[in-house]
Amino acid sequence: MSLFDSMLKSSESLFQDPVALDFDFLPKVIPYREKEQRYIATCIKPLMSQRTGKNILIHGTPGIGKTAAVRHLFKELEDETDEIIPIYLNCWQKNTSFKLIIEICEKLDYKFTHNKKTEELFEIVKQMLNRKSVVFCFDEVDKLEDLDILYMILEQIYRKTIILITNYKEWAVTLDERIRSRLALELLEFRSYNAAEIKGIMEGRIKYAFVPEVWQEDALDLAVKKTADLRDVRLGLSLLREAGNLAEDRASKKIEVKDIQAAIDKLSDVKIKSPEALKEDEQHILELIKDNSGKKIGDLFTVYKEKGGEGVYKTFQRKIDFLSRNKFISTKKQTGGPDGTTTIVKYERETKLDEF
Ligand SMILES: Nc1ncnc2c1ncn2[C@@H]1O[C@H](COP(=O)(O)OP(=O)(O)OP(=O)(O)O)[C@@H](O)[C@H]1O
Ligand SMILES: [Mg+2]
Repeated sequence: MSLFDSMLKSSESLFQDPVALDFDFLPKVIPYREKEQRYIATCIKPLMSQRTGKNILIHGTPGIGKTAAVRHLFKELEDETDEIIPIYLNCWQKNTSFKLIIEICEKLDYKFTHNKKTEELFEIVKQMLNRKSVVFCFDEVDKLEDLDILYMILEQIYRKTIILITNYKEWAVTLDERIRSRLALELLEFRSYNAAEIKGIMEGRIKYAFVPEVWQEDALDLAVKKTADLRDVRLGLSLLREAGNLAEDRASKKIEVKDIQAAIDKLSDVKIKSPEALKEDEQHILELIKDNSGKKIGDLFTVYKEKGGEGVYKTFQRKIDFLSRNKFISTKKQTGGPDGTTTIVKYERETKLDEF
């Protein structure tokens, strides 16, 4: 009997349906977000009576159900009516107006996109969309490199709701006044989940993903506690998966505290988003931090300027904040030193691309 043979025989899987732990798996219900979903629905509601809808900026920290809530609502809308077309777009994956319009064509099943420019394609799309009402969702909208498509939609699509999602509410402030006044955005904050909500969500997922009763209670408690500390359900789900894999590797029939502890230890390797997706200047700053890890933010800014970096300190600070929230770096406030309060900036380890 080969080594693998025995491994396969000895390990009955602890997983029932591991797909339920995937980041883009859409649960049947999104608990604790009813209020937010209802609010989004009221912005869409005018479309049901042939009027135009309201536009919303959804903001909040990573991994707290912003995307899931909107995608869920879109699914319900699709089941409900043919008169309103929901179009979900991810601006991290498609970060230019041209890429987005191609994506919209694909969603509308229009295939003759070859050799056509953005404007030409928009003309075609417009004819199709203006027969009905449309809800656009631009997820991770701060990654969008040009706003042409938003202009075109605002000017040329008659009955619409535009939903923008970002981790950075401040992004809206950077918008050109003309686009800002046309958008007239309503703000909708998604707050972090509390510990009880995190527990509810994770137990819900476990029911789908794992064979019943493989989780020891104290192991699950630890997973919930860690996830509540991190305030990020996405990280919580990867902890569950990792712990399940570790328990399976040691041919255990139960997932124990030591599995979840080992998964937590590995967590510092897991980054949510890839450095490749950063803008040039952000990459430049990340490189700088890599070479100067542990320095004060003010000193980093000096080095940045010496190396030809552009912009004022406030902009630099915002970029540091951005890198920190995406977990490329960590920042720590230091009080009471000779310089008063300052921020220490540290580089975090390289992203493992295969881990997301
Ligand atoms: N209330 C919930 N019920 C069930 N699953 C949830 C809930 N909230 C979040 N999740 C799950 O957590 C993961 C992260 O959620 P989601 O992708 O919606 O985060 P997000 O707020 O859009 O984060 P980001 O800003 O990083 O894009 C997903 O797998 C999602 O299904
Ligand atoms: Mg999201």
